[in-house]
Amino acid sequence: MTLVLGIESSCDETAAALVTGDRQILAQAIASQEAEHSPYGGVVPEIAARAHAERLAPLVEKVLAEGGKTLADCDAIAATAGPGLIGGVMVGLVTAKALAMASDTPLLAINHLEGHALSPRLADPDLQFPYALLLVSGGHCQVLRVEGVGTYQRLATTIDDALGEAFDKTAKILGLGYPGGPAVERLAREGDPAAVPLPRPLLHSREPHFSFAGLKSAVLRAHESGDHADADIAASFQQAALDCILDRTRRALSTMEPVTALVVAGGVGANQAIRAGLEGLAAEFDLPFTAPPLPLCTDNAAMIAWAGVERLAAGCAADPLDLKARPRWPLDPDAEPARGAGVKA
Ligand code: KG4
Ligand code: ZN
Repeated sequence: MTLVLGIESSCDETAAALVTGDRQILAQAIASQEAEHSPYGGVVPEIAARAHAERLAPLVEKVLAEGGKTLADCDAIAATAGPGLIGGVMVGLVTAKALAMASDTPLLAINHLEGHALSPRLADPDLQFPYALLLVSGGHCQVLRVEGVGTYQRLATTIDDALGEAFDKTAKILGLGYPGGPAVERLAREGDPAAVPLPRPLLHSREPHFSFAGLKSAVLRAHESGDHADADIAASFQQAALDCILDRTRRALSTMEPVTALVVAGGVGANQAIRAGLEGLAAEFDLPFTAPPLPLCTDNAAMIAWAGVERLAAGCAADPLDLKARPRWPLDPDAEPARGAGVKA
């Protein structure tokens, strides 16, 4: 049975996991850096890189011990090689290279976004290619047609902020701390989603792209006006974000070649209101809806190990030990830039 050690260090979670070819997560460990970054209200790259460097080796030792395995038992060592905060990515990649060299095990350099994109197949053995994927995380907001391992067609992306970023900024405005997504979701449950009039950027526009910068500014103005309760702002923000997500994803689906399912992945995919909305959208298109369990939505190493399993099964070659970490690494390099896109897209 195939066995892959996965390593993730592209943002603020240091993680390692052992995953088998028959979808068993033998062991996994995640060290969150929430305490280090929360005083700053966001991830500080230098602090993140140092924390990864301190924690990663003991985490790898721990998952190997818990899984009762050694490096010699692994068919490959899979590590995130980008995109992400470059210091952190380099810590994970260099660690994986050293382990691969010392144990004479193949190295697999994994695109973090591919980890998210394939994670639903780790949880759901029945999910077949090609599927439609809404990838919503702290750095990305994209609709992709996942055609196979390494084959992604990007139909939509954000022209400014990612959705997770909009959640995090809303949390900051409302003084909810970092990371903001789960806190905004909790507060939204106590508020009225129709209380605060907020814009729905790009709603009904022909191209299926996303935009959240205007929504974020409107949240700031609503808060500064002093006219609204925080819970109402959180609920109205989440509703506006959901309306945008559903309208834009509907547009992308209506132009997409046939798919087997609608799938969500990435940290914002942990949001229950968004999951419920997408389930309804899938039904409009007569598609089943799949979302990975919550711990597989946010950053983790099991999805990186699983992407390694998928790459081995697809016959992909091992990567060379001089491979470079990539701060940017689009899943679909041929996708046209979104019109009107700012620097971040
Ligand atoms: O995928 P992820 O863990 O890291 C990236 O690759 O970016 O996503 C993190 C993002 C953060 O912006 C966080 O606030 C958001 O996902 N998030 C949520 C929820 N849980 C995490 N957003 C909304 N609702 C949630 N429950
Ligand atoms: Zn991620």
